[in-house]
Amino acid sequence: MSNPFKNIQGEVGWRSPSNIALVKYWGKYGNQMPQNSSVSFTLRNAFTETIVKYAAKPEGKAASGIDLSFFFEGSTNPKFEDKIRKFLDSIIPHFPFLPHFTLEVSSHNSFPHSTGIASSASSMSALALCLTAIENSLDGGLHPAQFLEKASMISRLGSGSACRSVYPYAAVWGKHHDVAFSSNEYAVPLDQLHPVFQSFKDAILIVSADEKSVSSRAGHALMEGNPFAESRYKQASTNLSRIAEYLKEGDIQNFGEIVESEALTLHALMMCSTPSYMLMLPNTLKIIELIKSFRSEKGVPLYFTLDAGPNVHLLYPAENAAEVENFIRQELLSYCENGRVIYDEVGSGPIKIKG
Ligand code: PMV
Repeated sequence: MSNPFKNIQGEVGWRSPSNIALVKYWGKYGNQMPQNSSVSFTLRNAFTETIVKYAAKPEGKAASGIDLSFFFEGSTNPKFEDKIRKFLDSIIPHFPFLPHFTLEVSSHNSFPHSTGIASSASSMSALALCLTAIENSLDGGLHPAQFLEKASMISRLGSGSACRSVYPYAAVWGKHHDVAFSSNEYAVPLDQLHPVFQSFKDAILIVSADEKSVSSRAGHALMEGNPFAESRYKQASTNLSRIAEYLKEGDIQNFGEIVESEALTLHALMMCSTPSYMLMLPNTLKIIELIKSFRSEKGVPLYFTLDAGPNVHLLYPAENAAEVENFIRQELLSYCENGRVIYDEVGSGPIKIKG
């Protein structure tokens, strides 16, 4: 069979950040569709850089399936390669050009291995951006907003929450009556974000870098039998309406109350799943208690959130950075594994690094 892309080759690269959910996505249906809408801050310093080299297969070999070699941090990685090959195979209906090319994907993260920081949001969005850029260079014509929408949709198929990483500052994923153009298939940018939140800080305290005992995939699935599932989905919708207002107005206190309640709700849902499980550790709770007393004693607007794991994200305005970071050093570092903390902040979204 002749290759319609005969002699075409090229290279694209994207840097894409991780994100931290404020209203959490927990529970899915169908092909990576969220049971409720979620909103997140896009981060700046925790990112993945991915470069994809592509070359049209020789005549006769076209359309014979995905031809991939994958390098992670400079070395081959058969486990990741296998995962990515399966993913690429699954998205051929969205990118029919894929089987016609030999692909070499190289990827690295800005944050060190084994920090317990989930890299799926940054890595899947970086890969999706590269693939969408290749399609665009072959077909052309995608308007920038359509480009990001498609990259977001492809990211979602790789790892749900990754779809929010393609936008600067903050993004909403999941159909919601208060968010124009919102969709279950892709995220949209949150269009009104008060300047105080555009420079918000996120210090990630690494309580444990161990692999989680229950994966997010299994956690989402357990929502199916969770007796609180329906009320949780309603609560998330109300929280999203409220937090969107606070994010617009710059209301840090009300924002913080929702964010903390969302984090604890996520973990409460895990505790009342069947079988039940817990991902918080004793040091997670110690840190949370210390944050609460620091806030009430010093009047500093410092709030916490949690991912599906024991590590604690500390959210605070840039103008309070000095006192919060001093507090982290003096009182919280001893509860972190090897005194590890990653200082991050709200960021301006992915950037093209090649192509
Ligand atoms: O995208 P997944 O399937 O890894 O799930 C992520 C779920 C949370 O991080 C806990 C919440 C969220 O909205 O990011």
